[in-house]
Amino acid sequence: MKRSLGLFLFVLIVNLAISHLAQAQSQAGFISLDCGLPVNEESPYNETEATGLLYSSDATFIQSGNTDSIPANQEDSYLKPLWTLRYFPEGKRNCYDLNVEKGRNHLITARFVYENYDGDDDGPKFDLYLGPNLWATVDLRGNKYSTWEEILHIPTSNLLQICLVKTGRTTPMISSLEIRPMGNDSYITTSGSLKLLYRECFTESGSYMRFPDDVYDRRWWPYFRKQWTQINTTREVAILNDYDPPKDALATAAIPTDATEPWTYEWSNSDNPSASYYLYAHFAEIQDLQANDTRQFNILFNGQQYDGPLIPKKLEMTTIVNSSPRTCDGGECSFQLTRTDRSTLPPLLNALEVYTVIQFPHSETEESDVIAIKSIKDAYKLNRIDWQGDPCVPQYLMWDGLNCSISTNISTPPRITSLDLSSTGLTGTISTAIQNLTKLEKLDLSNNKLSGGVPEFLGNVESLTVINLSGNNLNGSIPQALQKGGLELSVEGNPRLYCASDSCAKSTKKKFPLAIVVASVAVAAIVISVLLLFLVIRKKKSTVVEGLHLLPGTSAVNATFANKSSRRFTYSEVVKMTNNFQRVLGNGGFGMVYHGSVNGYEQVAVKVLSQSSTQGYKEFKAEVDLLMRVHHTNLVSLVGYCYEGDHLALIYEFLPNGDLKQHLSGKGGGSIINWSTRLRIALEAAQGLEYLHIGCKPPMVHRDIKTANILLDENFEAKIADFGLSRSFQGGGDSEESTVIAGSRGYLDPEYTHSGRLAEKSDVYSFGIVLLEMITNQPVINQTSEYSHITQWVGFQIKRGDILEVMDPNLGKDYDINSAWRALELAMSCANPSSSKRPSMSLVINELKECILCENTGISTNRGLESQEMNVSLDTTVVPIAR
Ligand SMILES: *[C@@H]1O[C@H](CO)[C@@H](O)[C@H](O)[C@H]1NC(C)=O
Ligand SMILES: *[C@@H]1O[C@H](CO)[C@@H](O)[C@H](O)[C@H]1NC(C)=O
Ligand SMILES: *[C@@H]1O[C@H](CO)[C@@H](O)[C@H](O)[C@H]1NC(C)=O
Ligand SMILES: *[C@@H]1O[C@H](CO)[C@@H](O)[C@H](O)[C@H]1NC(C)=O
Ligand SMILES: *[C@@H]1O[C@H](CO)[C@@H](O)[C@H](O)[C@H]1NC(C)=O
Ligand SMILES: *[C@@H]1O[C@H](CO)[C@@H](O)[C@H](O)[C@H]1NC(C)=O
Ligand SMILES: *[C@@H]1O[C@H](CO)[C@@H](O)[C@H](O)[C@H]1NC(C)=O
Ligand SMILES: *[C@@H]1O[C@H](CO)[C@@H](O)[C@H](O)[C@H]1NC(C)=O
Ligand SMILES: *[C@@H]1O[C@H](CO)[C@@H](O)[C@H](O)[C@H]1NC(C)=O
Repeated sequence: MKRSLGLFLFVLIVNLAISHLAQAQSQAGFISLDCGLPVNEESPYNETEATGLLYSSDATFIQSGNTDSIPANQEDSYLKPLWTLRYFPEGKRNCYDLNVEKGRNHLITARFVYENYDGDDDGPKFDLYLGPNLWATVDLRGNKYSTWEEILHIPTSNLLQICLVKTGRTTPMISSLEIRPMGNDSYITTSGSLKLLYRECFTESGSYMRFPDDVYDRRWWPYFRKQWTQINTTREVAILNDYDPPKDALATAAIPTDATEPWTYEWSNSDNPSASYYLYAHFAEIQDLQANDTRQFNILFNGQQYDGPLIPKKLEMTTIVNSSPRTCDGGECSFQLTRTDRSTLPPLLNALEVYTVIQFPHSETEESDVIAIKSIKDAYKLNRIDWQGDPCVPQYLMWDGLNCSISTNISTPPRITSLDLSSTGLTGTISTAIQNLTKLEKLDLSNNKLSGGVPEFLGNVESLTVINLSGNNLNGSIPQALQKGGLELSVEGNPRLYCASDSCAKSTKKKFPLAIVVASVAVAAIVISVLLLFLVIRKKKSTVVEGLHLLPGTSAVNATFANKSSRRFTYSEVVKMTNNFQRVLGNGGFGMVYHGSVNGYEQVAVKVLSQSSTQGYKEFKAEVDLLMRVHHTNLVSLVGYCYEGDHLALIYEFLPNGDLKQHLSGKGGGSIINWSTRLRIALEAAQGLEYLHIGCKPPMVHRDIKTANILLDENFEAKIADFGLSRSFQGGGDSEESTVIAGSRGYLDPEYTHSGRLAEKSDVYSFGIVLLEMITNQPVINQTSEYSHITQWVGFQIKRGDILEVMDPNLGKDYDINSAWRALELAMSCANPSSSKRPSMSLVINELKECILCENTGISTNRGLESQEMNVSLDTTVVPIAR
């Protein structure tokens, strides 16, 4: 007789009296879910009729689905856990999330009782998945009103996802879910999981067994054939292995009635003829044998011997397992026990389990990624119906907004590489779980309502190359860790994100504890008013200075621009960068300077050149290339340009603290800078200038040094702007009255008017004027005064011997008088009308360093002022005399 698979898909009827309820059995680790049971309704409850197991509502293990129940008149046919059900009208994949022990074998049983709960008279057909892998197709169509699936499976992570996947128009549903952790040393396969085909004990008086008879809650069905005879015992069979079947399943056995015949068990699996099988045959001798009796037999599968000869042990169970999976020809399988020649008794079998092997070829997404994405989902309360089950696999069910790397190698689990949660209404802060997505390359959180700071940890995710945080309400500063090459960060549209650099807030405080009130409007006009001729002055370099200041400084902006393959921008990029020229920083001689940002956080100053200010592209490009190669900490970097038709623009590094002029004058939100800071700024500016003079190749003359061209970065470090503009950027023509051609009024080398030639010493002159401004805070030109030029005014004051009158009253008396005196001397010598008497910038630097040393070690104060000898020649050769 052959049996077909269908025979066993019977309705699970409670037709049995289970007598061992009182037996205390451990339910440790059991998960027993009554699907569709309302949470508030007696959950969990004790299923007393058959098992004594506690069943709970499934509501906390799944986020979707509706609940229903089978008709009341059908309830008698089923245990209570099967009366209610959950069905899934929405979503393609709906999943239960269950916590299990990774690496341990688990018995997983899902039951589906349709019973026409929906009145459609036709049950659904859908797929059942374990994580990313197809476990079974559940088919309740036709007259089938209930079915179940059972599998022995070793989860590869602590999170087990059981998913119902809609495959047609019908609605998936489920009645109960049961998970039982198994013993360590049983049901071990070379690969794959074990789907139950038969689990039988051989007895004529039928009652099926499960928990508590079976400690693992396996179900054992009674089975008997008419060719067999039952033997039984009332004594207990010892179980020394991990299979642990119910004792009662072993208390009976079947032997062939015709003792000469083999014991035969056959089945046909036409649904899946190529299936492979594992068989677990449990034997125990339960008869009292005579001294001259022997029971010995061989075990054959499809006619081939695979174990034996076996002599079952007296009242002790032996389990025979095939060590590798077996297949059957055309799905026709037979399992036989044939007695050996020396056996006096026929073969016997107490219980048998037959499983088919299911391969689970898809690796689950890396568990840490799954945990992280789930906590992100929880943190933002994302109720996306498709965000269930494995995030990456199967690929056609990948979560919306994710992208994953999926290897064909099963030992390489899928990883999440991209997360797009833009415009999803996220609130709260940026979830810390994001840092656990360690293979994330792209993160888009734009257009949400995220608040709080930009977390530093984003910089720790090494694979990240693109982060878009624009259009949120983030505040604070952008951590240094995120300002690195190879990372594209967008933060525009976060009005409270105030600073591009982490260091600004902190170090500003540190360096300017008292004297500086950092203005809330930190942006100043970059005044670009002079068109400079590009002069090449080759001069023998001073070896003393060479080693000192030639290290180029690069900023974060530079670093990022350096990664851009071309620094040439299109006009539309310039428009975008400046947000359609929205914010004016200043108005120079050649056009406006606008604030802009690249990639959202790299702020830039965009100088739009007037359309007539150009020669051909080649010349323009040559100049720009040259300027872009000039890098020094104390020079504002040119980072890009635009040359498109009539549109010309130069893109500079942006300095948030404006220019020195505004800070000295207190205008435009500038603040008062103390004396030692002024000296430092002077030194830094001098270093920048020196670099132009002797550090650059070819050397450059700035030609428009003035306080408005000395900009301050977030740390109040000075950087000189607008150097090196050449003929390529002519704006106003060569007309005499144009102040932009050759320096600004008051700063211009008086020798220039005679020689018509600007050289390095012209910059030194201008620098001297700057220094005088820094010392005195007087206007460079004051038409209302008798001494209209600042040098004249200072000369006059010095003649009167009144150095305290010279000093900027805003400084109070908070400076060392020696250092002030030296600085004044230096300024006047720089501003000497005769270029040959002016010091070089290298000497200026040395002298400024001396001043700083004086100030820092300052023994003397202005109160203990000693007379100083001055060796400075003004045009009127003034010798200042101390009071
Ligand atoms: C369920 O009820 C049975 C019988 O009343 C009892 O033996 C068993 O211990 C109960 N189970 C639990 C988990 O309380
Ligand atoms: C099964 O294995 C786990 C760890 O893998 C161990 O903690 C446990 O003690 C083992 N149980 C038995 C019965 O060997
Ligand atoms: C064992 O089998 C005998 C007959 O072979 C039967 O009378 C007896 O009731 C059986 N005992 C059990 C426990 O099944
Ligand atoms: C075994 O011994 C018993 C008596 O002890 C006897 O009745 C029986 O025939 C013997 N069986 C065989 C196969 O020799
Ligand atoms: C996902 O990654 C693949 C491969 O890198 C790419 O082709 C695809 O465009 C990406 N999809 C999205 C939505 O980013
Ligand atoms: C799969 O990956 C593992 C570990 O990463 C490696 O050892 C193995 O060689 C790979 N197999 C194939 C077929 O690439
Ligand atoms: C991130 O991973 C670490 C360990 O790898 C874990 O301790 C931490 O809880 C995880 N954080 C989140 C938010 O998932
Ligand atoms: C960032 O997101 C905004 C809004 O979704 C979008 O306009 C912008 O192009 C994105 N930036 C990048 C660099 O992808
Ligand atoms: C950012 O905003 C949060 C409230 O949203 C506030 O607690 C925090 O202090 C702010 N941080 C900064 C640096 O302004």
